[in-house]
Parts: sequence; C-alpha cells; structure tokens
Amino acid sequence: MYTQGLLHAKEDDRAAPEPAGALARFQARIDAEEKIEPNDWMPAAYRHTLIRMISQHAHSEIVGMLPEGNWITRAPSLRRKAALIAKVQDEGGHGLYLYAAAETLGVSREELVEQLLAGKAKYSSIFNYPTLTWADIGAIGWLVDGAAIMNQIPLCRCSYGPYARAMIRICKEESFHQRQGFEIMLTLARGTDEQKAMAQDALERWWWPSLMMFGPSDAQSQHSDASLRWKIKRFSNDELRQKFVDATVPQGHFLGLTFPDPDLRYDAASGHWLFGAIDWAEFRNVLAGNGPCNRQRLEQRRKAHEDGEWVRAAALAYAEKRRARAAA
Ligand code: 3HC
Repeated sequence: MYTQGLLHAKEDDRAAPEPAGALARFQARIDAEEKIEPNDWMPAAYRHTLIRMISQHAHSEIVGMLPEGNWITRAPSLRRKAALIAKVQDEGGHGLYLYAAAETLGVSREELVEQLLAGKAKYSSIFNYPTLTWADIGAIGWLVDGAAIMNQIPLCRCSYGPYARAMIRICKEESFHQRQGFEIMLTLARGTDEQKAMAQDALERWWWPSLMMFGPSDAQSQHSDASLRWKIKRFSNDELRQKFVDATVPQGHFLGLTFPDPDLRYDAASGHWLFGAIDWAEFRNVLAGNGPCNRQRLEQRRKAHEDGEWVRAAALAYAEKRRARAAA
C-alpha cells in the first residue's frame, strides 16, 4: 500500500554506504524523540530490525485468528458469538495494518506472507497452544491480549512513524479484546462449580505461555539493546513481563482463581509480585516448531491462503480492469 510512494527503500539503497555523519545525525533525531519516516535515511540494521519485528507481529495477528476462530461456531450465546467474530476480524485487520507498515520499509506483503507459509518466519509462541474449552477464549482475551497490550502500548511511542501510528488503533482494539476476555472469565468464575473449574483450568494452561510472550529474559535477548537504543522498544522484555504480572495477579485474585505458581508472592519492599522460574526449555521448543499446535497452525494458514486464491485473483483482475478503463 505505501511501497509505491517510497523513494529510498530499494535493495540498492540498503546496500549503499552510509553517508558521512549519517549515523550520528540519525541517533540525534532518535534521542530528540523525532519520528523516523519511510523516506528518511536509516541504518540498514534499523530497517532490518523493524522488518523483522513488524512482520513477526503481523504474522502473530494473522495466526492468532486461528485458535479463537475455532470457537466462533461454538460460542455459548449470540452476544458472545458477535463479540468473538468482531475480535477475530479485528486481529485480521491488525495483521493488514502491520503488513502495510512493514511495506514502508521496502519489503512486499507477498514476500512476508510467503516466508510465513514456508515456515521460515516467526510468530508469537502463544498461538501454538490449543483452545480446549470456552474458558480458553476468556483466558486468551484476559491474559494474551492483556500481555499484548502491555507490550504494545509502548510501541505507540516507537521511533518509526508508520509502526507507532498503526499501534494506536491496534491498542484501542486490544483493550476491548482484553475486557471481553475478562468478562468471560468473570462470568465463569461466578458461575457453577463446573464453570469455575473451567476458568481455573484455562488460567493454569495459559499463565506461563502468556509470560513467555514477552520473549527471553533480558540476559538472553539478542535484539533488546539495539532496539532500546533506537527507541523501537521502550522497555526490556523483563520489565514488561513484570508490569504484566503486577497488573494481572490482583485481577486473578478478584476472579477468585489461583495462579499455577507456588512461588508467586507480593514483595512489599519492591512493590512487585515475585514469580517463579519460567520453563525456557518449553519456550525454545515452541520456537523450534515443536509446540502442541505449530504444525496444525501452519497447515490451517496454508489452506486458508489457498482457499483465498480466487479472491486475490478477482481483486487483481478488477484493479487491472479499472486501470485499463482509466488509461483508455
Ligand atoms: N514468540 C516467538 N518468538 C519470540 C518470542 C515469542 N513470544 N519472544 C521472542 N521471540 C524471538 C524473537 O523474535 C527473536 O527471534 P529472531 O532473532 O529470529 O527474530 C528471538 O526470539 C530473540 O528475542 P529478542 O528478545 O532478542 O527479540 P525482540 O527484541 O524482537 O523482542 C518481542 C521480542 C518482545 C516479541 C518484540 O519483538 C516485540 O515487542 N514485538 C512486537 C509485538 C509482537 O510481535 N507481539 C506478538 C504478539 S501479537 C499478539 O499477541 C496479537 C494479539 O492480538 C493478541
């Protein structure tokens, strides 16, 4: 969508040597909180980091439609069904804004989608877990969208203009998603013993994977230092994880649920909820493609892409017809 307007994002430009003093001027603009725009000069590594991060984010939104989409036909009421359809549709929209933001950096959406379908691109680990009961839809909204908001609100202040602007609308919609999830959990938690048990079970299965969404610990994070220096990220992975735990634990207690962490305790001295060790072996395993649903998600995504081929062909044919008419 934006690519045709770009002047400097071609491969050749990326390979070109840095103009003298450009790096220092670039960092000074970042330090002064100026936004970097698509046609501005930027270091190749900054461009590369943004393409990596924005495309992984876009893929996460698109793959994230699958676990929840499974429950649209089984939502327990018309109201829940309407809200879930709207939410899943929002996630698709987020993916599209984000692919458009990535395109401003000189990469095409087709190229990025191809990488996802070929299994070469990452998407969030969280979407490789199954949605076994209706309570999982509540837990995803409350915890997964809650974690996403915690991570994404600071991205509204990202130094790259198109990403920062896309995040403003995305965060507003994620906030609705989080609330609808919490409301499902509240209804279940105040329901029958069986419903409360479903909510408890969902919390137990989604809690640790939600903490993993923030990425490896700061000591293990390869990209954080550069991203913080460039103000792409505003907080480290561990800082955001702690903020999420601090915000979410009181909500879980309000629901009357128990977190699956015997080490979870409030530390009055620091004002934080301290939590137990994350199973990083599980995280690495999911990233390596061996989570409970990695293969299923990619197969479903590939099938959806193939099923949509006629829509893309029709849209292109229509655009061509309009172009030919305008030229005639
Ligand atoms: N799942 C999959 N991969 C992950 C991951 C996760 N939860 N956390 C980290 N990784 C990957 C990184 O992408 C990186 O891989 P790469 O070098 O092959 O690209 C590697 O692990 C090392 O991690 P780093 O901490 O060095 O990487 P980052 O500095 O990029 O930090 C991040 C990771 C915090 C996820 C950051 O990229 C980020 O904030 N991204 C934007 C937000 C995003 O993509 N969120 C995904 C969820 S979106 C969502 O949940 C949809 C909503 O509708 C619910």
